[in-house]
Amino acid sequence: MKTITTSKQLQQTIDELRIRRRSIGLVPTMGFLHDGHLSLVRTAKLENDIVVTTIFVNPLQFSESEDLATYPQDIERDTQLASEAGTDFLFTPTHEEMFSENVLTSISVTEISSALEGASRPTHFAGVATIVAKLFNIVGNCSAYFGEKDWQQLQVIKRMAIDLSYRVEVKGCPIVRDSDGLALSSRNVYLTKNQRSEAANIPKTLIKAHEMIRDGERGPNNVKQAVLTHFERSPEIEVDYVELVNGETLQVTDQIDERTRLLVAVKIGTARLIDNMNALKGPSI
Ligand code: PAF
Repeated sequence: MKTITTSKQLQQTIDELRIRRRSIGLVPTMGFLHDGHLSLVRTAKLENDIVVTTIFVNPLQFSESEDLATYPQDIERDTQLASEAGTDFLFTPTHEEMFSENVLTSISVTEISSALEGASRPTHFAGVATIVAKLFNIVGNCSAYFGEKDWQQLQVIKRMAIDLSYRVEVKGCPIVRDSDGLALSSRNVYLTKNQRSEAANIPKTLIKAHEMIRDGERGPNNVKQAVLTHFERSPEIEVDYVELVNGETLQVTDQIDERTRLLVAVKIGTARLIDNMNALKGPSI
């Protein structure tokens, strides 16, 4: 694996790979890699000749009250894990490399960005879309891999790629979970021991909701209420949202069907955790 730190060097490398007709899998991350990220790298490796993994803690997607300054980082460990999982090129640009000037351009994917995560974090998706657009422009024609844990982010990026005619196939990969079902997230390190065991109630609640739906419940409000009641039993959990939406448009649904996605966001201590599932299929734990 080779580490690259400048866009120019990455572009030159990609140009050479193109001449040799190598297909490219791109895995954008903010580092502090866990098995969820590594599963993206492994899938990208299976489906492409070359894997480019990127690590950049993107300030554009953090609001002032969020955890940019304390976002966990461990570049030595990440380098080893990325290499072992099959990364060929690790792109680790500095802030100055990505933004030599003040950023004046912002990409806004309207409608699907405004609710759910966007309601609590109004500038978040423009920050994500802008940095991902930059990576798509640097790498060009490729397949790009994102985790389904960030379901809304995945829809925003898919939509941006279509709307802006990127020659990038955006692929969503299944959520990777810990042994008790908690979705892996770099932010799980913020949890104390007690909070970590309470966090297992997030996937447990999704399972309960899925059981209701499996047993015939089709009313989103009844499922939503049951989820909220379940969360109320966990004193450490502060609910941000629970919604049943059309998985693609992210519009609130009035009837549960095969397109329905249940999305939840909660705060436990300082950690904001999200999870989701297809309402009919369940969280696959
Ligand atoms: O999902 C993430 O880690 C980030 O939002 C992404 C896609 C790497 C953009 O900074």
